[in-house]
Amino acid sequence: MKVTVVGTGYVGLVSGTCLAEVGNDVLCLDVDPRKIQTLNDGGIPIFEPGLLDMVRRNVAAGRLRFTTNVEEAVAHGTIQFIAVGTPPDEDGSADLQYVLAAARSIGRHMSEFKVIVDKSTVPVGTADKVRAAVAEELAQRGVDTAFSVVSNPEFLKEGAAVEDFMRPDRIVIGAEDPAAIDLMRALYAPFQRNHERLIIMDVRSAELTKYAANAMLATRISFMNELANLAGVLGADIEMVRQGMGSDPRIGYHFLYPGCGYGGSCFPKDVQALQRTARLDAGIELKVLNAVEEANDAQKRVLPNKVRARFGDDLSGRRFAVWGLAFKPNTDDMREAPSRQLIGDLLAAGATVAAYDPVAMHEAQRIFDGETRLTLASGPLEALDDADALIIVTEWKEFRSPDFVAVKARLKTPLIFDGRNLYEPKLPRSFGIEYHAIGRR
Ligand SMILES: NC(=O)c1ccc[n+]([C@@H]2O[C@H](COP(=O)([O-])OP(=O)(O)OC[C@H]3O[C@@H](n4cnc5c(N)ncnc54)[C@H](O)[C@@H]3O)[C@@H](O)[C@H]2O)c1
Repeated sequence: MKVTVVGTGYVGLVSGTCLAEVGNDVLCLDVDPRKIQTLNDGGIPIFEPGLLDMVRRNVAAGRLRFTTNVEEAVAHGTIQFIAVGTPPDEDGSADLQYVLAAARSIGRHMSEFKVIVDKSTVPVGTADKVRAAVAEELAQRGVDTAFSVVSNPEFLKEGAAVEDFMRPDRIVIGAEDPAAIDLMRALYAPFQRNHERLIIMDVRSAELTKYAANAMLATRISFMNELANLAGVLGADIEMVRQGMGSDPRIGYHFLYPGCGYGGSCFPKDVQALQRTARLDAGIELKVLNAVEEANDAQKRVLPNKVRARFGDDLSGRRFAVWGLAFKPNTDDMREAPSRQLIGDLLAAGATVAAYDPVAMHEAQRIFDGETRLTLASGPLEALDDADALIIVTEWKEFRSPDFVAVKARLKTPLIFDGRNLYEPKLPRSFGIEYHAIGRR
């Protein structure tokens, strides 16, 4: 099938590449010429495990191409995926300007039947807006070419995106047009050879499903974070509590890990957008989600608060090592990452910071550009030299079993604040390291 993917970010590039991998002829469009240049030069603009090899393989096979040419992109695919960003606008609602601009450019150039697929995370009612935008462009041109709009939210996880796309738990399709449903069924057939994973529903339900899933996951995290804070004060151990709870099959072990707050490009903005949709479009206050968001904002301050409780409010002259900058392991994405709040707070209190992350250093460089009190260390141990404490923010595998002798030797004070509960507390303590985690005894 001929497929166009509009937007070559985390979702668009992974989707386009995986669709090419199973034999489709895919053209990826982006408005950012640097991204397209990087791709055409044989690189990729993001870090995602397994993606670079897959891109190269499919480019070499002639199934995957990249362009900034809108006309060419619209002409190419019978199926046009819209996978552009939907960042929060000023009041936290999803900003649809990129989605609608993509829809308009399809309407402006299409000359035959197209299935336009919303893959971006968009509020309920967006498919109607996309349909209206395309129809308006067609009317301006005085043509009435047929088209269908489908909602196909994406559930991939950064860090495991290729695996998730190739072996999805489910593929949600919101569509009413039988011709469009048949096309989507055929497109996704190679990804569900083992059993049917397509869930076909009306467009509005599909749009809401994506927000509902992310809101549920965010809720579990905030719930566990609050319980961990409580456990810490009451002298209970949240890790024991987690195991005791998770063993109930109605609860399960997934997504019950307390930490220093959720971040990333999805949970914070999707929780907010769902609250705004409920409030503005339905007059309903989602009280649980309001609390989830409030608890998360507070949780992002737990690490800086622990540091202040130990060293006082004025941190001038202090130096801290930070392990992990990305919002989670296996990605270079730092959007809404807890590390940003932590580093910002430490710098504001007068400290200097030496940080290390396996892949997000270039992103940190861009975000903290010109910040002379932040240095990016060449390795995890190098970050520790002369530091008053090590603060762990992201649970990269390479931090899981460090050489505690070396850690102690290089730190000025043998002290770890662990925002991800990576270690059994007695282990670092057995090396004479003072150890503070989230809700652990
Ligand atoms: N990142 C994730 O893990 C994830 C997972 C599921 C769903 N989503 C959703 O998918 C959407 C995309 O997310 P992302 O993380 O890939 O975003 P991203 O910011 O990484 O990529 C978006 C890309 O779209 C491009 N773009 C913007 N307007 C364009 C236009 N008119 N034409 C062509 N290209 C255009 C941008 O230049 C950018 O490269 C969002 O709605 C997000 O909520 C993201």
